[in-house]
Amino acid sequence: MFLYFKWMMHTSANRVDGMLSIFSLFLCAITIDGFIFQEALDVAKCLTLCQNELCRNNCPRFTDGFEPYPKVNEEAGANITLHCRGMNVLIIKHNPGIYVIEQSISPDTWGSATVSNSGLATFSNLTAGAHYRYRSHRITQHGISLAETSNWFSTYAADYQPQQVEYISLIKIERERKNPYKLQAEIIFEPVEDRSCNYNILLWSGEHNLINFNLKPLEIEFSGFHFLLKSLRYDQNNTVSIQSANDDFSKISNATTFTFLTPSCLEVHHNLSVCAPEKVKGLRAEHIRKREGLYDIVVRWDKPILKPDNYTLQFDSFQFEPQLLVVSGDAVEASFLNVDVGPQYEISIVAESSGGVSLQSTISRSIDETAVVELFYREVIIILPTLAIITVVFVVIFIQYRKKKNKKTNMEYMHFEDSSDSLKKRLKRDYAIENTLLPHDKFQLNPQQLKLKGVLGSGAHGIVRLASLQDEFGSITDVAVKMMKDNPMVEDIKNFHQEISMMKSAGQHPNIVSLIGYCTLYNKPLLIVEYCSKGDLQTYLRTIWQNLMNAVFERRTHLKFDPISFANENADQGKTGSYYNNTRIIANRLYDIQQDVIKYTEDVTSADLLNFARQVATGMEFLSSNRIVHRDLAARNVLVRSDRVVKISDFGLSRDIYQENVYRKKGNGKLPLKWMAIEALTHQIYTTYSDVWAFGILLWEIVTLGAMPYPGTPTNRILQLLKSGYRMERPPNCGRELYNIMYSCWNLRPQSRPTFIELKQSLDQLLSNYSENKYLNLCEVLQESVSESIESRSINVC
Ligand code: ADE
Repeated sequence: MFLYFKWMMHTSANRVDGMLSIFSLFLCAITIDGFIFQEALDVAKCLTLCQNELCRNNCPRFTDGFEPYPKVNEEAGANITLHCRGMNVLIIKHNPGIYVIEQSISPDTWGSATVSNSGLATFSNLTAGAHYRYRSHRITQHGISLAETSNWFSTYAADYQPQQVEYISLIKIERERKNPYKLQAEIIFEPVEDRSCNYNILLWSGEHNLINFNLKPLEIEFSGFHFLLKSLRYDQNNTVSIQSANDDFSKISNATTFTFLTPSCLEVHHNLSVCAPEKVKGLRAEHIRKREGLYDIVVRWDKPILKPDNYTLQFDSFQFEPQLLVVSGDAVEASFLNVDVGPQYEISIVAESSGGVSLQSTISRSIDETAVVELFYREVIIILPTLAIITVVFVVIFIQYRKKKNKKTNMEYMHFEDSSDSLKKRLKRDYAIENTLLPHDKFQLNPQQLKLKGVLGSGAHGIVRLASLQDEFGSITDVAVKMMKDNPMVEDIKNFHQEISMMKSAGQHPNIVSLIGYCTLYNKPLLIVEYCSKGDLQTYLRTIWQNLMNAVFERRTHLKFDPISFANENADQGKTGSYYNNTRIIANRLYDIQQDVIKYTEDVTSADLLNFARQVATGMEFLSSNRIVHRDLAARNVLVRSDRVVKISDFGLSRDIYQENVYRKKGNGKLPLKWMAIEALTHQIYTTYSDVWAFGILLWEIVTLGAMPYPGTPTNRILQLLKSGYRMERPPNCGRELYNIMYSCWNLRPQSRPTFIELKQSLDQLLSNYSENKYLNLCEVLQESVSESIESRSINVC
């Protein structure tokens, strides 16, 4: 039995991968039971005589045709001990060799015989709380040994509470044979005295989910319980939590956790053509001089042990488009010259090699005016005496001249000259204030109609507050009020007006956030839009994800497993004792998980999620037919109402595309790089086609319950990645049809991407053919692993 969850970590630091694995240690190479003694003996003889695996695999069929086997006067030497147990199962361990093992029915009666050549023999279908012992004969080429009888072993009582695992340890970490870019770790744990066969294993891995984990118990060695964690990333923290359980997982022990860090790629390979360079260390920056508000920023960093090919530095003052600088791998210093710095700036650097790009190192600096003033004074101290002399001479000549002419003072005039710059600034400010006057039309509201309440959200440029709006008939509605932060820049005010006019021109549509009105309060423009009580889609999805994770962590997920039906099924099919082959049991068990998934996902089903996507496509179809390019379509800019109607919002970046259907961005500001189409990244070309690209990313966000696109990839690598042809892979819980839709949105050629009409039709099609979890499986990641283990990709397990 082997299941697991995989989910994406969300952006915050506590965003982790979750993986739940529940398995039972019912392993053995060949354990053939249900034979009468003579048949078992024949099979054992066959195994003894077989030279190869193929022959051995066929042994159960050849149960006749052997000569009577001689009894030899040798000890069996089985040394049977208890390997593990549950309510209805006992797995016993014996020394290497081929054994025919009988199980007691009562103190002196022996039941059917089992052949075991693997060191472990599984006896299932047992009675809870009962005692069993085993009689073994070793079969060799010489004959059948003397009998050896084991101690008594008991199964768990029906209400038995398994004890906590005491010891987990890492045996080794090594490169995966199939994929040298991934690691595998072998973990061992020691069952406590009660030796449960059932364990609930959780792995929290690093920062991302969607790692294609494959957790399968290794062959169990005699000394302990091992399993292999595959597809681990380099330099990643992993926490394994193990709980022991009874057969139906209704009783679970406390968790024992173990954390280990995988080595970095460089520690394993020492080669920059295989590994990305290490993160740049010792990053520091200095602003050297100030000339008319401009600075030279000198950036320095420590020399690394292995030299990368080059470094890419980014300077961001949060006011203008970030500046990039690429320097050679030999450099330990670079300068951004004459940059216009705001009160704060950020420098980030990555090192690049053919093996990849390092993690980003970033520093933030605020402009220390005192340092600048000091610098200024230093300059002034040198220049001042010279200037003073010149001025004195000049003034003397000037006074003489004026005295001669008409004795009129010129001080005022000089003052005017001095302050011309500040006057210009003042005018600019007045212009800004002028612009806050909003047009008088049906959307103009009286601020007294509004009662502002709590904050719904805030961003770099403004905040959104909940408010109640009273109309002329006295009825009150909840609304969302968007307002700019104090002291907005002219650019912010322009954008605010742009947003209002875009919302006006967009018109009304069920999947677009409607404009209710605008007004001015304390000189600040306010934008009033309809209120969507469930907030933005990204947070909504992440909350579902978080709830699921909490549910897993709090052990509220009860997995039910019915070993009796399992055993019957196996008996029907004449199968060996491996639990991995039983699809029906897995399906039953996953059905229970699904119930929990539903419980913890606010009753949101995968059909609801598909429907969100369809509604966004419908809203975008409406916007594009009105020639509006959204330019920032993303889950964070879609709002959810309590009735699960979703609405596209945030028209701050939207533009009317006029005749050419193209908008070329000129301005500055932060860009939603991970949502941007390749032509928007390279040529700043925004069209409905680039909105379609963003829609594909939004679909991916929906499928992954709000994960950050391109997990683990810094934004400054996106363009390079996309240019190389890379596109995000199919999330494990996403059906092929749905993935094809999102993938088609990322076509290099904009015209080859689907239109929103087509997208809507495709999603309609999926929804009309909808069968639970066919396209998008909420408890999937389970499905993925189960499918793998049972080698059937077609079953719908949850
Ligand atoms: N956050 C931003 N805009 C919102 C709105 N219209 N409704 C609810 N929350 C929001």
